[in-house]
Amino acid sequence: MQGDFSSWAKTHQSRFEQALQQLLPTADLAPQRLHQAMRYAVLDGGKRVRPLLAFAAGELTGASLAHLNIAAAAVELIHAYSLVHDDMPCMDDDVLRRGKPTCHVQYDEATALLVGDSLQTLAFQLLTEHHLNEDASKQLEMVKLLAIASGSRGMAGGQAFDLDSVGKALTIPELEFMHIHKTGMLIRAAILLGAHCGNVSDAQLSKLDHFGKCVGLAFQVVDDVLDSEADTATLGKTAGKDADHNKPTYVTLLGVAAAREMAQQLHQSALDALADFGDSAQRLRELADFIVFRKF
Ligand code: IPE
Ligand code: IPE
Ligand code: MG
Ligand code: MG
Ligand code: MG
Repeated sequence: MQGDFSSWAKTHQSRFEQALQQLLPTADLAPQRLHQAMRYAVLDGGKRVRPLLAFAAGELTGASLAHLNIAAAAVELIHAYSLVHDDMPCMDDDVLRRGKPTCHVQYDEATALLVGDSLQTLAFQLLTEHHLNEDASKQLEMVKLLAIASGSRGMAGGQAFDLDSVGKALTIPELEFMHIHKTGMLIRAAILLGAHCGNVSDAQLSKLDHFGKCVGLAFQVVDDVLDSEADTATLGKTAGKDADHNKPTYVTLLGVAAAREMAQQLHQSALDALADFGDSAQRLRELADFIVFRKF
């Protein structure tokens, strides 16, 4: 394993930024305003955790960077679309995202709606127009995986559950269902898509999937904690929104200390799932550390 985690992450983040620049329609292409807004929502911001998970999983399976860029971009485009819609007045009604005005504030609501639509379809266009695996049936599997992770049995379904839960006292299993869907599924898909760009056995896939389930849920538990504990400037999004909007979260159900404890248990289960991989899974372990111990 060469170099430390932070330089590995920086190298991938800056290369990936270039890739996204090129994969998105240029700002001068008609309809210009829509393309400008798509670029605004995707470029120059975000932690890029899902792409990094795809790169780390792909390193483990011997995938090429060219293929991984595409798989990572597909997931990041879906994620960016989910954020644009999540921030709209009909959902969380947020004005700040990634340290900038949200897409509907900077442009307008109709444009933000279309940005989401267009990023989602661009993700699937990328996954189908690039050759990502020697075996065409594997590539079809990848398309299906991202579709399920994004749709009503994945992220969008979790978001529906989230909206329906405002002001309600959920049980822990209900909250877990919501978090696994709205956030966990896409994180899991990032890892599996990265792995599928290389050679991976079914046994390895199931271990990576278990790792993904644990870090995916942990990611949203920590997001809940940070919403209540961190400040707006650090987060680049308005802190304290969950309490303001009466959202049930791990913090409202368990309190901060128990929510943090739960994230740490998930961290341990995630590491356990990687036990058989040895050094080749070091980046995934470091990403699990980042997800659970991050400050933003
Ligand atoms: C925020 O995701 C929304 C959730 C799913 C919790 P991130 O915290 O990954 O947001 P960016 O991409 O870094 O802005
Ligand atoms: C968002 O959850 C999950 C998505 C699918 C976008 P949140 O509503 O908690 O995300 P933030 O806190 O606005 O980033
Ligand atoms: Mg939300
Ligand atoms: Mg939100
Ligand atoms: Mg949140």
